[in-house]
Amino acid sequence: MSDAVAGKNNIFLGSADQKIFADDEVTCVGHIIGGIVAEDMHIARRAVKRIDVDYEELEAILTIEDSIEKGSFYHDRDIDFEGGDISAGFAASDDIIEGETRLGEQEHFYMEPHSYLAIPDVGEYTMELHAAGHDLCSLKYAIANALGSDYSKINCKTTRLGGSFGGKDSYAILFGTICAVAANTVKKPVRLVLERDEDMKISGKRMGCLAKYKAGFTKQGDIKAVDLHVYFHGGHTEEHQFFTMLWAYYSFGNVYNICNLRYAGRLCRTNMPSNTAFRGYGQPESVFIMESLLTQIAAKCNIGQTKIREIQFQKEGDLTIHGDQVKNSCINQCWRDCLLRSDFYNRQEEVLKFNRMHKWLKKGLAVVPVAYGFGPPFKKGGQGFAYVQVQMDGSVLISSGGVEMGQGLHTKLIQIASYELDVPTDYIYMSDTSTNVSPFFAATIQSVSTEVSGKAVKIACEKIREQMEPYVSANPNGTWKDRVRQVYDDGEIILATGHSAIAPEKDSNMPFRYYSYGTACSEVELDCLTGEHRLLRTDIVMDCGRSLNPAIDIGQIEGAFVQGYGYFMREEIMWSDKGELINSGPGMYRLPRVQDIPREFNVEILKNSDNPCNIYSSKGIGEPPLSLAVSAFFALKEAIRSARRDIGIEEDFSLDAPAVPRRVLQACGNQLLKK
Ligand code: MTE
Repeated sequence: MSDAVAGKNNIFLGSADQKIFADDEVTCVGHIIGGIVAEDMHIARRAVKRIDVDYEELEAILTIEDSIEKGSFYHDRDIDFEGGDISAGFAASDDIIEGETRLGEQEHFYMEPHSYLAIPDVGEYTMELHAAGHDLCSLKYAIANALGSDYSKINCKTTRLGGSFGGKDSYAILFGTICAVAANTVKKPVRLVLERDEDMKISGKRMGCLAKYKAGFTKQGDIKAVDLHVYFHGGHTEEHQFFTMLWAYYSFGNVYNICNLRYAGRLCRTNMPSNTAFRGYGQPESVFIMESLLTQIAAKCNIGQTKIREIQFQKEGDLTIHGDQVKNSCINQCWRDCLLRSDFYNRQEEVLKFNRMHKWLKKGLAVVPVAYGFGPPFKKGGQGFAYVQVQMDGSVLISSGGVEMGQGLHTKLIQIASYELDVPTDYIYMSDTSTNVSPFFAATIQSVSTEVSGKAVKIACEKIREQMEPYVSANPNGTWKDRVRQVYDDGEIILATGHSAIAPEKDSNMPFRYYSYGTACSEVELDCLTGEHRLLRTDIVMDCGRSLNPAIDIGQIEGAFVQGYGYFMREEIMWSDKGELINSGPGMYRLPRVQDIPREFNVEILKNSDNPCNIYSSKGIGEPPLSLAVSAFFALKEAIRSARRDIGIEEDFSLDAPAVPRRVLQACGNQLLKK
């Protein structure tokens, strides 16, 4: 099918060249070999069923364990870091723990599956693509490459996405290019819409990972050395996984001082669909690994869960293991506020009382602090664009490089323009995000788009304000509309572009320019007979800097928390022994449900936080709160610990995520089976 590709059968995805259609070897179930174009979807689906492909079955690597055993890694992506003095750290330790922990994959489960409409030969364009993707410029370049066309002859646009969570970043480039190749072949408009099960089978997920750790610490619980190997499940090709792995590595340590660290990251090459970007970008994985390690040390030293964390907290001015200085940290405020608001210590007593009185129901309470670093990783990733036009009637039309996917970006951009131009928000409209207005703008990722596009909007509005200045002086009592009319009467037009570029600091080893902080406290009730649990209450204190829009930010915190809850507690991807996805729909895939939202859910934005790095002192919010859901996981672990104590099991135990009932029952010491 690669014959249908007029240009080159490859696209540049994230960090590596990949084929659009497999040509000689199919390397996973779901690897695309071609497409069928038909007059309607039903004919196309019937045609697909009539195709017989003879595959010669080759030996396959399907799991992280297989890949470790066979040494199948993307070795050019190895991360090998050693900071401090690891041997001295272990020598200074009173005790050492060793263990491993695992996190499963997670399906993005956006509301609208991948959808595209390619229209060939629209005016001067070779191809116009209506795309559900958030890296439209890379999509444009990929299509141009596949069609053998100039960039100027391709236009990719989108109004908004029905959710993405990272899943429509690189995979949109693949599906969008295939749709454009089809339309170019038949010279007619082609629509490509995946059904849910196809979408789940073909497109990648959040990477699963396996961490093997060894940590040395003093009797007081002070960590002296960590030796960590993390294996990330890459898949059959490499696209975004390396950056996710890199972000996980940068994020390891969370808010804690780790002076001596050896970190080995490996990206596993397997015969499974390539995994991809997902909200949090490696940080939730690192938070989970670090907290697993800490709770194990706390159990070993018999230290309470707040104390074990407070001992390791970074202090202002400390140098992190990567050589970054801790600046403007507000973790202490978030931590203290959360302990206070959740009434942590009193409730801990109540939980103890409850657990003494109940045999088969156990409660657990946990509090977890989180830091999230904001990129972008490189200069190109931080470029924003905005095109602001003031129409003759005074209404304002903005086109930006940022893609709206439900995170509230457009609302925030309208607020920024309203403030800068001093016009009401209902005069301002957002138009499509479209590649024909700018040769380049960065993908909407890593929660920096409000900053990137917002700064571009601000720059454009400042230019317009300057242009309007003489009209304000000439007519100080006039309205915005009067002045705009006057400008047009004078034979001028009002429009401006803005380009913003944010980049990592030059003299830093780290790509992070600033951090946001948060703390969550969760309480769960475990049914020891079924392994099921209820999330009774969650209290969150989250640092948003000076929030641009508290309603949106609280919505993002709540949404991210529930998505994180699914990741750590419920969602489990199941594969057959041939590498085919088994639970490819909502019927079998355990998504978070309405009843999984904490019965009492208190979200508080931290007061008096500032951020000189970002627009109007705000902070990005789309991703950071996801990892706060780890508090529910460790609350459940506390409940299991209590159940184990009742049957005389005192030693610590490991629990992999997601904490599905099967794993929970096993961890409880299988009381039910014994019964
Ligand atoms: N919120 C909704 N409703 N839908 C989404 O797809 N994506 C998340 C987050 N919040 C998402 C969302 C992801 S993965 C990112 S990177 C950020 O939004 C992007 O937001 P930004 O505009 O602040 O960069």
